[in-house]
Amino acid sequence: MLPTRADFPEGFLFGAATSAYQIEGHAQGGAGRTHWDDFAATPGNVANAENGDLACDHLHRWQEDLDLLAGANLDVYRFSTSWARVMPEGRGPVNAAGLDFYDRLVDGLLARGIRPALTLYHWELPSALADLGGWRNRDIAGWFADFAEVVARRLGDRLWSAAPINEPWCVAWLSHFLGHHAPGLRDIRATARAMHHVLLAHGRAIQALRAAGVGNLGAVFNFERAFPADDSPEAARAAATFDAFYNRWFISGIFRREYPAEALAGLGPHMPPGWEDDFDTIAQPLDWCGANYYTCKRIAPAPGPWPALAEVAGPLPRTDMGWEIHPEGLGFFLRRMHRDYTGDLPLYVTENGMAAPDRIAAGGIRDEDRIAYLAAHLGEVAKAAAEGVPVRGYFCWSLLDNFEWAFGYGKRFGLVHVDFATLKRTPKASYHALARALAR
Ligand code: FCB
Repeated sequence: MLPTRADFPEGFLFGAATSAYQIEGHAQGGAGRTHWDDFAATPGNVANAENGDLACDHLHRWQEDLDLLAGANLDVYRFSTSWARVMPEGRGPVNAAGLDFYDRLVDGLLARGIRPALTLYHWELPSALADLGGWRNRDIAGWFADFAEVVARRLGDRLWSAAPINEPWCVAWLSHFLGHHAPGLRDIRATARAMHHVLLAHGRAIQALRAAGVGNLGAVFNFERAFPADDSPEAARAAATFDAFYNRWFISGIFRREYPAEALAGLGPHMPPGWEDDFDTIAQPLDWCGANYYTCKRIAPAPGPWPALAEVAGPLPRTDMGWEIHPEGLGFFLRRMHRDYTGDLPLYVTENGMAAPDRIAAGGIRDEDRIAYLAAHLGEVAKAAAEGVPVRGYFCWSLLDNFEWAFGYGKRFGLVHVDFATLKRTPKASYHALARALAR
């Protein structure tokens, strides 16, 4: 059973989240090429050589999708704008059809009584900017601020909230160190630069949004609880290093104007010149802070150069992603944010959800595991709120089954099932359970 509105403080908001490249259909509507198109076109990067060309065809089916949001009794929708749909080359000319699309989307949300929560960048960097070094190039902060200004001028008067960048860790580490996401690099110097420039771009975009009159500005981080694999001091050290470059680097840069020592121990020699002088820009005041949370990790020491660690399997039940289910981790991070970084700032769980091998059968899609996952995590949120942690809202990932990056269309996170052959949408049991829990 899902908790209901009555289990949360007055005014607590419930939403669902999506992102542009994962649902829109990026080969359509005059969008420019992105590094995700290039990454997906390279053999071996994405399961079944899939890509975002059509995805859920949200570009044409957005009205039906907004009706689904409304039907679930959701208060707020977290969506993203594709930089290359708005500015196909990343700089210069604007694709009018692209901006028009987002304009209609925002109006369509408001018409349904749903608050629009904008993310400017959810990972599809225009290829033309990737050619110039992408996140490795310090100039990206200015390019991104210009993009922020274009979007702000068009949508800013009707947004409920805005955040520049989804999950800086994925933009920087997952994509430049682990190579799992575009641009698929495995290079510590590129990583160090991206780790810093992503925050510089965040700060410049916040300045641009605020100057354009947009309010309720925030940042969205992803967190994974890092447990030492055993009780040796070496494992404790490895987990602390993981925690530093994953969970603490970005929030510490913005709220404490410094990077954690355990992460600088490895990244320091590779940082771009003058990085220490950028915190005035990075640490722009924010109106809220968001946490995306899915799982925990077990960290063991490993031979080799810094960070000299490895992830090992843990004992908890797993989702279809192979991710351990650890709801208490969400409460841990909400308390830690509040206590160590954000103080009284409103917090939101900006993503949470699970992948399951959902199939349509007679009687619908019985995703009972997802209902249990959501209930357990919402329970942690309610507990933190009752303790006085200022958490004000929760977003499910995701409204729709979609293009799950390197996993292609094989991993289903949606409240709504999508048949990728016909694009037919079918609400799952979790969708109906949520609609009942949120009914007023
Ligand atoms: C998050 C991403 C989102 C989706 C979920 C499963 O890290 O923000 O796009 O991939 O994970």
